[in-house]
Amino acid sequence: MTGSPTKRSVTNVRPVILAAFAACLALAVPAHVQAQEAPAKPEAATEAKKPNIVIIGTGGTIAGAGASTVNTGDYDSAKVAVDKIIAGVPEMKSVANIRGEQIFQIGSESYNDERMLKLAKRVSELLKQPDVDAVMITHGTDTIEETSYLLNLTLKSDKPVVVIGAMRPGTALSADGPLNLYNAAVVAASPESKGKGVLVVMNDEIHSARDVAKTNALKVETFKSLYGPLGVVVESKPYYYRLPARPHTTATEFDIDTIDALPKVDVFYAHTSMDPGILTAIADRGGKALIYAGTGNGSVADYMEEPLKEVRKKEIVVRATRTGSGQVVRNGEEKDDENDWIVTADQTPQKARLLVSLALTKTQDTKEIEKILYKY
Ligand code: DGL
Repeated sequence: MTGSPTKRSVTNVRPVILAAFAACLALAVPAHVQAQEAPAKPEAATEAKKPNIVIIGTGGTIAGAGASTVNTGDYDSAKVAVDKIIAGVPEMKSVANIRGEQIFQIGSESYNDERMLKLAKRVSELLKQPDVDAVMITHGTDTIEETSYLLNLTLKSDKPVVVIGAMRPGTALSADGPLNLYNAAVVAASPESKGKGVLVVMNDEIHSARDVAKTNALKVETFKSLYGPLGVVVESKPYYYRLPARPHTTATEFDIDTIDALPKVDVFYAHTSMDPGILTAIADRGGKALIYAGTGNGSVADYMEEPLKEVRKKEIVVRATRTGSGQVVRNGEEKDDENDWIVTADQTPQKARLLVSLALTKTQDTKEIEKILYKY
């Protein structure tokens, strides 16, 4: 969310207030809320044993700033440089050697395929470096589920990749970014996180990029996974309780190093009283596939059937559900065989868009594309 830029300042007012509050109570003030002092230098031997993590900064609320401590929803995102964010959580130095790299400074609603590919290619380069043990990405929460899903399907490494964000800017009371960042470092530094695919760490939970979704516009506990998180972070330790069942990273047929552009795939969101002309207009925009985010089980309104058949003459049609979960049953309520329409397995329309786009880099065969939806 944004407000008047003239009101805004990236000066962190929270340190002053919280430091004064803690001083009254004679509490130890966490370093991210104090004026920054150089932390004690760790022993060289310990330093050498710690993993090396690169944190790529891309913007979002974790890099956001509000005008006052009570602005939790009214603030400017993508303001604070990643090095400053890292300096605000020196506790991370106890778990890893960290360095930052700024690739974008954007709200994640502004991602497009080009930006996602640029980020993914940079992550891939870093993962190939022997002196990089893990990569973390600070990201706006709006589209974490999409970027992390693309990374999960295309990176060719088993090194930990952890994507994090925040629901409240660093200037807010109870900002969630610092602890999310610290927990993400704990997860990225852990040998247990190797080979688990791309992870999203938010609100003390470790999610698989495949399943995670932002489910609430404002709440800190917005990130949910359809089948539950993989694990949790408690007191600086990750605890895994599940493993991803579907192929990811090294086990997929998609390699980010060989993908320079993604075929255009659009999403049409169904509702009552649709305008068929909007659907057919989308199909005139040169897309290779259209995800029809239908009601319920990907249902198609009676008056949209003919327009959707027209769309199929120009591009591939994929029926998905706007409900947020559940498989779309092939030939259930719709004539998929007759119309040569594809159905999604359980992917949300936005995740189906990415997977179908990747599938189209391999095949144009509708049966094969549907198999890919069911595989991943
Ligand atoms: N514009 C949003 C984004 O970057 C801010 C929300 C957030 O990061 O939580 O996704």
